[in-house]
Amino acid sequence: MASSLFIINISYLVVLVSLATLSRHCDAARAFFVFGDSLVDNGNNNFLMTTARADSLPYGIDYPGHRPTGRFSNGLNIPDIISEHIGAEPTLPYLSPELQGEKLLVGANFASAGVGVLNDTGIQFVNIIRIGDQLRYFQQYQQRLSGLIGQDQATQRVNQALVLITLGGNDFVNNYYLVPYSFRSRQFALPDYVNYVIFEYKKVLARLYELGARRVIVTGTGPMGCVPAELALRSRDGNCDTELMRAASLFNPQLVQIINELNSEVGSDVFVSANTYQMHFDYLNNPQAFGFVSTKVACCGQGPYNGIGLCTPASNVCPDRNTYAFWDPFHPTEKANRIIVSQIFSGTTDYMHPMNLSTILAVDEMKN
Ligand SMILES: *[C@@H]1O[C@H](CO)[C@@H](O)[C@H](O)[C@H]1NC(C)=O
Ligand SMILES: *[C@@H]1O[C@H](CO)[C@@H](O)[C@H](O)[C@H]1NC(C)=O
Repeated sequence: MASSLFIINISYLVVLVSLATLSRHCDAARAFFVFGDSLVDNGNNNFLMTTARADSLPYGIDYPGHRPTGRFSNGLNIPDIISEHIGAEPTLPYLSPELQGEKLLVGANFASAGVGVLNDTGIQFVNIIRIGDQLRYFQQYQQRLSGLIGQDQATQRVNQALVLITLGGNDFVNNYYLVPYSFRSRQFALPDYVNYVIFEYKKVLARLYELGARRVIVTGTGPMGCVPAELALRSRDGNCDTELMRAASLFNPQLVQIINELNSEVGSDVFVSANTYQMHFDYLNNPQAFGFVSTKVACCGQGPYNGIGLCTPASNVCPDRNTYAFWDPFHPTEKANRIIVSQIFSGTTDYMHPMNLSTILAVDEMKN
């Protein structure tokens, strides 16, 4: 009798201790959720049958352990550096088998290289997690989190989380402008196509809100016409491609507009727009000020601007990644990602509207 009571007491203690550990982890850092494309994919595509992957060296050459992880970078990517700023470990890809138990508290990364707002974007990559599926996985994640800490705690953790979504670039680069006379470019004039993508994007953001997201950083597209792949493919004189620049100049202001609309519909500053166009443009315009030797040539690749084909073990690789803005024909180096995140963290309202991440953290700290 006495000994079974003792056992019960011990297991009660074990439960108490593990609950205490869980809540201590909850206090440590808010959860972080990531949605979108290759700029923010932490390795989901490693688990899929797709050609859009970054799972062999030299990808990851500067990552801890010098190993490829599926990140489209020489080292850390934008979500990793945001995790550093909020004092959290990097988010695991949702498809990773390691994402279970207490790891769920950190959050999750649902992003998948190649996706866009539209379902027909990135079809050439075959098997990728389209944005609707990323949102369905987010629902599934919340059920798993409820199983761990209970439904009320799970809802609270999601409501208090930071969310990042990066979408839209592929709807131009890997759809409208993928080939001459693409289906979408025959169907729509550019301004009408942008309206359509924006209309669909607004539904995605509204759905994120319905699923409990309450602090969402939404990035615009960068200067898509300036990436080494487009310089190699479309530019004769080394200047940024004007058509893709026109697409960005139509898309970004309308994205800000739907963000403002959504915020007034929900009655609070849930959505925060990040002017990644300006953040990239600053260093593209003035490389030396940021310590870059080259902002036109990719570090890893081949052909003009190292912009042809993919970054593979057979490609040229620059010796000093800190002097290049582009790692591969489409994606920034860790150095460039750090410049972008420093603006996300402490930029003025020209870069982060209505507020930067350091203000978000301070405001939410007081609220929660
Ligand atoms: C994409 O496909 C999903 C699932 O079939 C559908 O619910 C959604 O409306 C589609 N999105 C667009 C923009 O067509
Ligand atoms: C952004 O962050 C810095 C702190 O790093 C702060 O001083 C500044 O006022 C913030 N700007 C805005 C517009 O919130």
